[in-house]
Amino acid sequence: MKLNFKNITLLAGASFLMMSCSRNEDSPGYEYMPDMYRSQAIEAYVDYGLVSDDENEELKNTMSARIPADGTIPFNADPAMASIMMPYSTENTTEGYEESKFNKIPSSYIETEEIANAHAKDGAKLFTYFCSHCHGAKGAGDGKVVTYGEYNPPSPYNGGYKDRTLGQIFHVITYGKGAMGPHGSQLNKDERWKVALHVRTLQHGNLNYAELLGGLRIGEEEKVFGQVDLPSIKVGEYVSLRGINFAPGSSELTNQAKVELDSLNSYLIAYPNVKMEIAGHTDNTGAEENNIVLSKERANSVVTYLVAKGVVEGRLVAAGYGSAMPIAINDPETGSAKNRRIEFVKIK
Ligand code: HEC
Repeated sequence: MKLNFKNITLLAGASFLMMSCSRNEDSPGYEYMPDMYRSQAIEAYVDYGLVSDDENEELKNTMSARIPADGTIPFNADPAMASIMMPYSTENTTEGYEESKFNKIPSSYIETEEIANAHAKDGAKLFTYFCSHCHGAKGAGDGKVVTYGEYNPPSPYNGGYKDRTLGQIFHVITYGKGAMGPHGSQLNKDERWKVALHVRTLQHGNLNYAELLGGLRIGEEEKVFGQVDLPSIKVGEYVSLRGINFAPGSSELTNQAKVELDSLNSYLIAYPNVKMEIAGHTDNTGAEENNIVLSKERANSVVTYLVAKGVVEGRLVAAGYGSAMPIAINDPETGSAKNRRIEFVKIK
């Protein structure tokens, strides 16, 4: 048979048509370039199980979202940003999730309240693309996917998830949790910190900047007076005075507190050049204005007592920080008591 050009074209066309059609009307047919039909980067929950007529049991109903391969470093020409983009090292395990509570946002994101708010605003935009269809525009757990019944509603950010720290939110965005898929391959680290800041504003109604800054001390190793080697304490270091507790709302020193202060007094006598700030802290219950006043009054009681014992007045400065500098997550059962405390900071 003589094959001319027209026959070859016809034959090729017919076989193309036969191969691209399918008997299953739900099938998309043969996908020559699946990436053109299915946007892998954006749709985290696409079902890739059906390719042509073949169902792939292994792939069916799995999320398309994946975490990037271990050690992946995205390119960045800006050295500061490149260091922020270094691989996230907390592991995707139950212990990793616990550890992530204490992970800190790079300090450049929260240098000032304006900077932090601007980042949170960028995060808000990303949130509408990646999160609000499940979590709802205000994070109440009422996104469309949930109201259509596809997912059980996640808790509201300002309810069941109110205590999640920035580090934990970042962790969950990276790896996902339960029914929520990982977003680590869709949002880079910079974007994840911004979204996390936005989630925080949804948790508290605003960024809660004071606690955000103080939160930098959460997870810091606590130095305790009576347990640390006193001459080794450096200027700027915080030391907890554990024995000094107050009745709720009171700034009166207990007898136990006086015992602890007497040994602090001996330290001050032994090191006559040391100057220190006495810092009062509260937990986050009640109005912050009252907390600041109360924490200052408590620090004042300590200073007054020590001065009465003969410490030269100018060596001690009282300060009240309210709840702005927690050392533990404010949880009535575990953390709040730790946050109601007196510390001293060596300033000279
Ligand atoms: C497909 C729906 C869906 C999407 C999209 C989604 N989430 Fe979730 N999210 C959930 C569900 C469901 C849970 C509850 C998870 C569980 O514990 O089973 C959850 C839980 C969370 C938690 C709390 C986890 C914890 O227990 O500490 C945070 C924080 C969170 N999501 C943030 C986000 C952010 C930020 C985004 C966007 C980048 C996002 N989620 C996108 C469904 C989703």
